[in-house]
Amino acid sequence: MRKVRMGVIGCGGIVEGAHVHAIQDEMAKGRLEITAVCEIIPERAEKAAKLWNCDYITDDWTTMLGRVDAILCALPHDLHHPCGKFFLENGVHVMMEKPLANTEPECIDLIETAERTGKLLMVAYPWRYEDGPKVIRKLLDDKTYGECFQVSMWTEQNTHPAEGNWANTKKGLGGGQFFSHGCHYIDLLLWFFGKPKRGIHFGNNKGTPWMEGEGTSQAMIEFADGTLAYHGGTWGAAGTRLGYSFHFHCTKGMIEYDHFAGKIYAHTDIADHIPGEIGANEKCELIYEHTSGKNVVPEMNHFLDCVLNGDTPITTAAESLQGLRVIWKMYEAERNNTIADLTGLGLEDDWKAVPLTEHGVWEEWE
Ligand SMILES: NC(=O)c1ccc[n+]([C@@H]2O[C@H](COP(=O)([O-])OP(=O)(O)OC[C@H]3O[C@@H](n4cnc5c(N)ncnc54)[C@H](O)[C@@H]3O)[C@@H](O)[C@H]2O)c1
Repeated sequence: MRKVRMGVIGCGGIVEGAHVHAIQDEMAKGRLEITAVCEIIPERAEKAAKLWNCDYITDDWTTMLGRVDAILCALPHDLHHPCGKFFLENGVHVMMEKPLANTEPECIDLIETAERTGKLLMVAYPWRYEDGPKVIRKLLDDKTYGECFQVSMWTEQNTHPAEGNWANTKKGLGGGQFFSHGCHYIDLLLWFFGKPKRGIHFGNNKGTPWMEGEGTSQAMIEFADGTLAYHGGTWGAAGTRLGYSFHFHCTKGMIEYDHFAGKIYAHTDIADHIPGEIGANEKCELIYEHTSGKNVVPEMNHFLDCVLNGDTPITTAAESLQGLRVIWKMYEAERNNTIADLTGLGLEDDWKAVPLTEHGVWEEWE
């Protein structure tokens, strides 16, 4: 079997915490070898290279050409565009960590470069490859618990990088918590519910003073089918009960996804509300269970399938741009004290039909 020669660029948190498992898995299957590691912190580079028996370490990704068929780009967000562009231009497939890039012009440039060179550009949105969200999407599509009308998605994290870290800055991050982490859930919401209609966002730093962009984010979207969706996320959680928790209220029951526990429950048979009385407990049934924790194994598996078979990735760069446009539009509306018009920005919409605007440029932020 042909092995894909991959270079890993950036060996920080996400690589050490998640991709390392997917890489080991594909190496064991004989589909992948890591032929170059690029990192500016030598100890991180050496640790990763040793793990993967890789004999080429560099702090300059431009020296990797000729050694790699594909790269995993897990760099600070402001480096996604220059790194991705360099490899796509030079005939190398790219798996880009989310978000695709910090501005709309950069995203479009990456998409167009991939189209022109015929190289693969997949955005790493692991949720869409994981079993839990796939099971939920089927339950929603099949209307197993009726028509969905309200969704709440909570993500409560304690993300406090050291002073001077790129992730505290607007320039490095491209925005705040909503852009950096919320992009996962906007992508999922668009995937679940199709075309968004309008939305609002509020974010600030009351609980995360170390952040330049917002560290706490509250977003609400109305979809064309009438579903109302809410995403609340913070990087300042000093404790949490909800962790990563999603609730889908449907006309015949509520679907709950507890991502940390890896469990999906169906809550049904709620008692009629009687003012002044605590309602009887409804039925709660565990309907699906998977291994808990972040699982990027299926995502890497899909990327290699695409490289080896020429398949189109599920999480294309163009789809990811649609999600980022939703976020940029909501940021823009927040700055202007208006409601964001999100029409024309769903995953099924033509991303090229939306005119190039300036709302992705971080310098315009207050
Ligand atoms: N899918 C997910 O759920 C998820 C979770 C966390 C992070 N991420 C994404 O992964 C990417 C990296 O995030 P992270 O949390 O691992 O950050 P990190 O800061 O821990 O890692 C980034 C690494 O890049 C290295 N680096 C910086 N400049 C470099 C350069 N010029 N050349 C080579 N290496 C360089 C840094 O030294 C660091 O080790 C980001 O795009 C982030 O959004 C995704």
